[in-house]
Amino acid sequence: MRLTDYERAMLDGAHGAAKARAMDLLVRYGEALGAERLVETNNVAGAFNASTPSVRHIAEQGFDRVYSELNLDSDETVEIPRMAVPTCQLITGIDNDNWQIQGVDPALAEMQKQSERYLGQRGVNLMATCTPYQVGNVPVKGEHCAWMESSAVIYCNSVLGARTNCEGKESTGAAALTGRIPYWGYHMPENRFGSHLVELDTQVDDMMDWGLLGYFIGYAVEEDIPVLRGVSHQPSLVKLKHFGAAAASSGGVEMYHIPGITPEADTIEEAFGARRPAGTIRYGRKERRETYEKIQSATDSKVDFVMLGCPHNSIEQVELIAHLLEGRRVHPDVQLWVHTPRAIRQIADRSGYCEVIRAAGGVVMSDTCPAISRRLPPGVRVIATDSAKQAHYLPAIARVQGWFGSVRDCVEAAVSGQWRGGVQ
Ligand code: F3S
Repeated sequence: MRLTDYERAMLDGAHGAAKARAMDLLVRYGEALGAERLVETNNVAGAFNASTPSVRHIAEQGFDRVYSELNLDSDETVEIPRMAVPTCQLITGIDNDNWQIQGVDPALAEMQKQSERYLGQRGVNLMATCTPYQVGNVPVKGEHCAWMESSAVIYCNSVLGARTNCEGKESTGAAALTGRIPYWGYHMPENRFGSHLVELDTQVDDMMDWGLLGYFIGYAVEEDIPVLRGVSHQPSLVKLKHFGAAAASSGGVEMYHIPGITPEADTIEEAFGARRPAGTIRYGRKERRETYEKIQSATDSKVDFVMLGCPHNSIEQVELIAHLLEGRRVHPDVQLWVHTPRAIRQIADRSGYCEVIRAAGGVVMSDTCPAISRRLPPGVRVIATDSAKQAHYLPAIARVQGWFGSVRDCVEAAVSGQWRGGVQ
């Protein structure tokens, strides 16, 4: 791999042991990928926090040990300096306020708080959400980033036109200390053209529609780049957030184009560049219905857990949930958890939405989600969610049955204890 003089000096230890370890990791990682060089990044979104029981025995040796082992793949403990570039923490395993409801051991909750103090002293911004782009981390078009979290990566590449591969704990840990990441994959303009044309023969409008379309496309193109034609309604941040999260769950989609809407292509021709489409995929009412049926893993209509907020809810989603719950009560046999970034929760608190949700018997959570924390209310058998991603993962992770539907269907299930959702 070709290195600049500065990168070579970091590798040789002239800028401290931590940067030397980080550069060693990046060079090994980049060479394994066939990258010929590194690229500068000023935007890292990773997972640094010590919030899982498996990290506890490492944390007992100090947080430098945690970073060295989990974020730098280093057997030797190195002293971790301030991050070299703007860096944020993605989602964690624990809500610092609701850890008791999650059933978290108090010692683990305290360890997370100590870990956050350590990270904050080193310049890690504790956004604690899978949607950093909803709370201020919005890279500009063409910006090279080093992000983890599949739903954030696809949003970053497609909606913002910034550039990232789906990174891991180690590569983001090294990127944060050096401001470098291997130049390959989606950093390279030639790898960002479309591979498949997806023709929409039906209207895709509300959030559930976009989730279903994403889930269908993920299966259809797997890890390739779909280009959508026939979008009838302008999608919002929320709809594209759900679309991307679903496509990155049923498949490994990290980028898509909607010509005229996403920023790298105004036309179908621009979306494909010199590439010839590998095929055309049609999505109509039949495919929509089949996808809806495929997502459902539940057969029992008695629901005992409703999860809303995967990816983490925007403020307008929290407002809608509060509106639908106003003056009502969650069924005594059902738990309702609403997930939103902590920064958005403050606005929701101030706007009175959290009070309405709590008065109805729901819980507003931040910092985490059930799929990442692997914590659900005890005894849950059947869940309902408005997220295709959560419906995809949670039944496998938590051995529960899952219903997927609109936010209205989910709120009705929370209130009645019964799933009555469906699709036309
Ligand atoms: Fe976010 Fe958890 Fe969903 S990390 S995207 S809420 S599975």
